[in-house]
Amino acid sequence: MDRQITTKLPNTPAGISRASDLLNSGQLVAFATETVYGLGADARNDTAVAQIFSAKGRPQFNPLIVHVASLAAAQKLAAFSPQALALATAFWPGPLTLVLPLLPDSPISPRVSAGLPTLALRVPAHPMAHDLLTEFDGPIAAPSANISGKISPTSPDHVLDGLSGHIAAVLDAGPCPVGLESTIIGFDPVPTLLRPGGLPAEIIENCISQPLAAPPTQQPMPNAPGQLASHYAPTAKIRLNADQARPDEVLLGFGAVPCDLNLSPSADLAQAAANLFRHLHALDANGAKIIAVSAIPDTGLGRAINDRLKRAAAPRD
Ligand code: TXA
Ligand code: MG
Repeated sequence: MDRQITTKLPNTPAGISRASDLLNSGQLVAFATETVYGLGADARNDTAVAQIFSAKGRPQFNPLIVHVASLAAAQKLAAFSPQALALATAFWPGPLTLVLPLLPDSPISPRVSAGLPTLALRVPAHPMAHDLLTEFDGPIAAPSANISGKISPTSPDHVLDGLSGHIAAVLDAGPCPVGLESTIIGFDPVPTLLRPGGLPAEIIENCISQPLAAPPTQQPMPNAPGQLASHYAPTAKIRLNADQARPDEVLLGFGAVPCDLNLSPSADLAQAAANLFRHLHALDANGAKIIAVSAIPDTGLGRAINDRLKRAAAPRD
């Protein structure tokens, strides 16, 4: 793909307006959401959506999440069951993505869903995402703004590290407050946790008064293809559940432990989530060969943190 100059745009009305113009002209713009930075394109523009896949090196079969400004806008694109409506009403705007049947007359480019009859939708809570969606006044397709298979970006500099020269602009809103991607829920045929994320599964189960099913495993094309084993991989190797660093390792700690970087000295899971990708990026950039990571409790946001760590530790090609 041709190289271009990537502009850093400020989080001001002028910056948002410029970003919206770029999207309208079919270009790619990265922007902050409360979870991670998204790589946005006009979801109705086939060519723009195709560029997302080439800029990221993303396989064409891996569908994208569409971001909209409101539940009303989402209801024009996909069919909401009563349970989906209950979740959207309770948690939007917020770090929750719903996979729903695509409406037949939806204007979304078929590339977005990679040919599936469903659409992943979310209303983000970050003021920048909200302002951009309001100004653009249309659906924005946006995967995480990283090269496919690498750690997701939680700052504009992470975005530029991977995608500078391949996208028109990145809007700068500083670090993302949640720091982990959205929780993805499907409904085919029962409410299913397709990806643990920024909204803890227990809170969702409380809302619908039923447990979430586990995603089907070992399908030729998984329901959430981004869930393939080696994903979110830093260059360094990862060793999980470490008590202390071995001589050739750095320790990414959790709680009151001596370590090189700490996810949360007070063992707070929300703080650990917000720091996870930033600390992995930092240790990786420092040239760590092996990152040992303290054990993280497997409840609430800890489930999503452990999911990302397991994928980062998975064997690679
Ligand atoms: O927090 C987030 O969700 C961020 C921000 C930018 O919104 N986005 C994000 O997108 O994490 P991405 O592309 O990195 O992950 C989207 C996931 C992928 O695993 C993809 O397979 C799944 O959503 N997905 C998208 N459409 C789907 C569909 N129709 N059915 C099942 N899974 C779908
Ligand atoms: Mg991603």
